[in-house]
Amino acid sequence: MLVLDLGGQYSQLIARRVREARVYSELVSFRTSVEELRRRNPAAIILSGGPASVYSDGAPHVDPGVFELGIPTLGICYGMHLMAQELGGRVDRSAGEFGKTALELRGALGHDLPESQQVWMSHRDSVVAPPTGATVTASSESTPIAAFEAPEQKLYGIQFHPEVVHTPHGAAILENFLYGVAGLLPTWTAAAVIEEQVERIRARVGRQRVLCGLSGGVDSAVAALLVHKAVGDQLTCVFVDHGLLRKDEAAQVVETFGEGFGVPLVHVDAADRFLAKLAGVTDPEEKRKRIGEEFIRVFEEEARRLGDVHWLVQGTLYSDVIESGGDGNVAETIKSHHNVGGLPADMELELVEPLRLLFKDEVRRVGEELGMPERMVWRQPFPGPGLAIRIIGDVTAERLELLREADAILQEEVRRAGLYRELWQSFCVLPAIRSVGVQGDSRTYGYPIVLRAVTSDDAMTADWARLPYDLVELVSSRIVNELPGVNRVVLDVTSKPPATIEWE
Ligand code: XMP
Repeated sequence: MLVLDLGGQYSQLIARRVREARVYSELVSFRTSVEELRRRNPAAIILSGGPASVYSDGAPHVDPGVFELGIPTLGICYGMHLMAQELGGRVDRSAGEFGKTALELRGALGHDLPESQQVWMSHRDSVVAPPTGATVTASSESTPIAAFEAPEQKLYGIQFHPEVVHTPHGAAILENFLYGVAGLLPTWTAAAVIEEQVERIRARVGRQRVLCGLSGGVDSAVAALLVHKAVGDQLTCVFVDHGLLRKDEAAQVVETFGEGFGVPLVHVDAADRFLAKLAGVTDPEEKRKRIGEEFIRVFEEEARRLGDVHWLVQGTLYSDVIESGGDGNVAETIKSHHNVGGLPADMELELVEPLRLLFKDEVRRVGEELGMPERMVWRQPFPGPGLAIRIIGDVTAERLELLREADAILQEEVRRAGLYRELWQSFCVLPAIRSVGVQGDSRTYGYPIVLRAVTSDDAMTADWARLPYDLVELVSSRIVNELPGVNRVVLDVTSKPPATIEWE
């Protein structure tokens, strides 16, 4: 099914919720032509919300032919307004409604739901006359037309947002639309994704050889496993180990891929090369630049050594595709990515991107289904330049070792406390300062370790995590007791903004 994106902040979320109902959905621009929609032949369409007023100049409009396709169509908020305006109804400025609102939803969308339910409203305009032939199926205290249905034309409109968590029965309402109205079945599962991708990859790649760079993160790992399932030993993975990973992570990659899944794996231990490039470098952006360049250089060397390779696997996600404006959507936030590496310019490899249509949580489900170890599937995001941007100032072997050990203690205790998956990221930072302490009878002059833990949905904003004091105490005392050279542990209690998640 297709979500026509009219610029609403929840458009992506609608597509995700539909997928959670096990129905494959894609987000497309509201500008998509009727011919294109007909060609794609969706089983259902949802028009998203949006910040504009349907009657104002320059407001986004869909081709009115969309409503004559005979495809079950649901308009949410602004999408509902468009429907009303195009089909003989009327939309006007109203008192508006924001936040939790009680209403009774009747008709097909309200099937099997409690009589009165709470929904999330966020609108200034309201439908004041429904489209010709439509029946009003919900009213709230200040919005007489909070939903309508015209079953014969297969058109449905709701003023509230079923996709947000503040509409507790939102998932059921969407399911009523998908299963009840559009007759869809919940068949889109991780197993189905794997089967489909494996076939596609085989058809594209044929008998040619494929190269994949592994970073230790979940995306490249799942992408590699999918390709390996499809074309077996035609795939070679290259793991450029820059020596800036966390404790035991490199070993885990080698164990999982090489030994566990039998994927042909080239493990390049390039730690010394990267350390040499970083010697004396203190500027964070310079560190990133050098690591990025060296990464490409090592990867290229290995790729050339392998010879006749035609394809390169990349772990691009659907959110990257959407957020880089790839599919012409109108969402207002465009995230900038900062991935280490990139395509060697003169290698002319063609790309295989088996995760291009998946959101992160779906990638994890596919990883689980493929049998990837839990530790890898649920790994917190980790920056490409690794520990180098968590050591303030000069990156030396000694400092790396210290940070790696401190970080391992934090990870171990966070996992033990059952908090690992709840946190977006949790890690240690090593500042380039020393402070005075006392241990035994003598004064020390040692490093502090900073504990950083945040909750977040997308890393654009983040809140510092309220770690239990008992956990903080345990981690602190283990770090100062187990790591000579550290005599102080501090906790970062800053959110993003104003701080960033990483310290560099
Ligand atoms: P900040 O520190 O900007 O981080 O709040 C937001 C998210 O991006 C990650 N990050 C990076 N990832 N290369 C990466 O691949 C980088 O240079 C980089 N810098 C920050 C960070 O870990 C967080 O998840």
